[in-house]
Amino acid sequence: MKLVLLGPPGAGKGTQAKVLSKEFGIPHISTGDILRESVKAQSPIGLKAKVYMDKGELVPDDVVIEMVAQRVAKEDCGKGFMLDGFPRTAAQAKALDGTLAGLNRPIDLVLYFKTSQQTIIQRLSGRRVCKNCGENYHIKNIPPKVAGICDKCGGELYQRVDDKEDTILNRIKVYENTVPGIISYYEGKGILRTVSGDFDVDEAHDYLSKLFVKEKLK
Ligand code: AP5
Repeated sequence: MKLVLLGPPGAGKGTQAKVLSKEFGIPHISTGDILRESVKAQSPIGLKAKVYMDKGELVPDDVVIEMVAQRVAKEDCGKGFMLDGFPRTAAQAKALDGTLAGLNRPIDLVLYFKTSQQTIIQRLSGRRVCKNCGENYHIKNIPPKVAGICDKCGGELYQRVDDKEDTILNRIKVYENTVPGIISYYEGKGILRTVSGDFDVDEAHDYLSKLFVKEKLK
């Protein structure tokens, strides 16, 4: 199963992708996570990307396109993969198709998480992430058992720099400027399916499970 998860920040793409990736035994490839790892490691790509990420701007296409091209060519993507947060521009979508055509691994479906602005802001402002294992929480929707501490590994939870209100608003603006081009691109190919990003976690998962059966992907 080769999927693209498309949607605004806070739509729940990462949360669903983590569950589905375990369920189907295929890699979850999040460009945001890869970039944050590069920032942490202070690699040349990370140092370049941080400037854009902290402001909620997109990292230049050439950086992310190359990063994803290398990742999807790896052996563990042979059975399938789940791309989360990529592509985000029409240029990225076209480059991805070129790469996947060369690998004979075309995208089966693009899941578009259509989400209200109210949900986006509520989710992002309450998101907390484990510094140690990267597990995702929300102070109200998905709280840890002990405030500020990861249930899984006991690590400290933190708020992402780009989850501050001003940056959230800029991320939404950037998203709204770039997403129409990608939606029409995938609609034209007949592989776009819309899912409500406003569903709770279990509702979204049930909806997707039924969709995969309907699309004969399960
Ligand atoms: P990235 O990390 O991809 O951020 P994003 O797309 O803004 O997405 P988020 O991770 O914020 O949201 P999500 O939909 O995964 O929601 P989540 O499941 O975490 O990108 C960060 C930055 O990196 C970008 O701004 C850019 O600079 C750069 N970048 C990345 N990719 C790039 C690319 N391709 N090109 C250029 N630049 C790129 O959920 C959010 C919260 O809600 C959590 O607290 C969660 O617990 C909670 N939650 C989730 N689902 C539900 C639900 N159904 N009900 C209730 N609560 C829920």
